[in-house]
Amino acid sequence: MSSRRQFLSKIGSLFKGFVLLKPVAALYSCASDHLDEFNDHLPEKSLQLLSPNGGEVFTDVESITIHWKAQNIHNINICISFDNGLIWNTAATNISANISNYSLPLSGINSGRCRVKIQNTSDTFIEDTSEAPFTIITKDAATKSIVLTEPATQIALKAGSAYTIRWEAQNITHVSLHISYDNGFSWQIIETNIPNTGTYNWTVPFIISSSARLRVSDANATSIQDTTDFGISIYTEFEINLNTYTQLSTVGGTAVFNAFYFGDFLVKRVSAAEAKSFSLSCTHNGCTINYNAMDQKFYCPCHGAVFLPDGTVESGPANSPLTKYNTILIESESKIIVTSL
Ligand code: FES
Repeated sequence: MSSRRQFLSKIGSLFKGFVLLKPVAALYSCASDHLDEFNDHLPEKSLQLLSPNGGEVFTDVESITIHWKAQNIHNINICISFDNGLIWNTAATNISANISNYSLPLSGINSGRCRVKIQNTSDTFIEDTSEAPFTIITKDAATKSIVLTEPATQIALKAGSAYTIRWEAQNITHVSLHISYDNGFSWQIIETNIPNTGTYNWTVPFIISSSARLRVSDANATSIQDTTDFGISIYTEFEINLNTYTQLSTVGGTAVFNAFYFGDFLVKRVSAAEAKSFSLSCTHNGCTINYNAMDQKFYCPCHGAVFLPDGTVESGPANSPLTKYNTILIESESKIIVTSL
């Protein structure tokens, strides 16, 4: 039983008969606050969003009208999302529920992923949301546009390197740049509210990803934006000079390195034309394993796992092979490149 229900039980034992409890909601917010226990003795309340309920297209507008039906509710809050409900913006608070409709002024919006949510001001648990997204292109947004022009195709960018992001924008004074490392699921700021010069000299961060995306948006109306609709790879590589590590010029020769992203790893010359790289992190619990040049196996000092020369498990408790990295031997340049790609 929750503490609030315990509180209500105590109140009930003090007062025989009907007790009317009215919740006090001092904060107006688009976040839901479950106050259902307080409503046990109140008349039934309901709230229904009639429109926009999904599929509508509002173009060249300065406002949209929200329609609803309410029963036994005094005031409502209105929230709007431009990203299909990921982020809710409070648009109006404490609107009389009896008027049944409200004209919501809007500017700088160009989004096909809008949703509206209405909620009881004094009990935000009572709410209703557009069942599907709808489109808003406001009058002022109709004259604005932004297009990301570079990168224009799928590319691989080396961590730490310089890259120029380019875009073309109409009637936009300032822009914001964001990056996602997880295919657009979450976004991180590169820059916000910088002048719209059409270019940005970016240092590619040391965050390795095969599914990065870039986004440019109007700093004053973030729904006006453009995003790469392809994945960007951010990779790192480690270069080994064979004139320094001469043992790697001989078949069977090995050397151990430590580098960003790769951690401890062993490079082995396996033939005249090929080298291979193995992570030295044990796949059981991450201990650093040892390589034995005599039998060419890998031994974990922590719990005894043994890996064969090709990195597969000979004996547990590990049950996954060692991680291998893409390794490129360029004999003509006397170098080996280990890459995260
Ligand atoms: S960490 Fe290697 S066997 Fe457990």
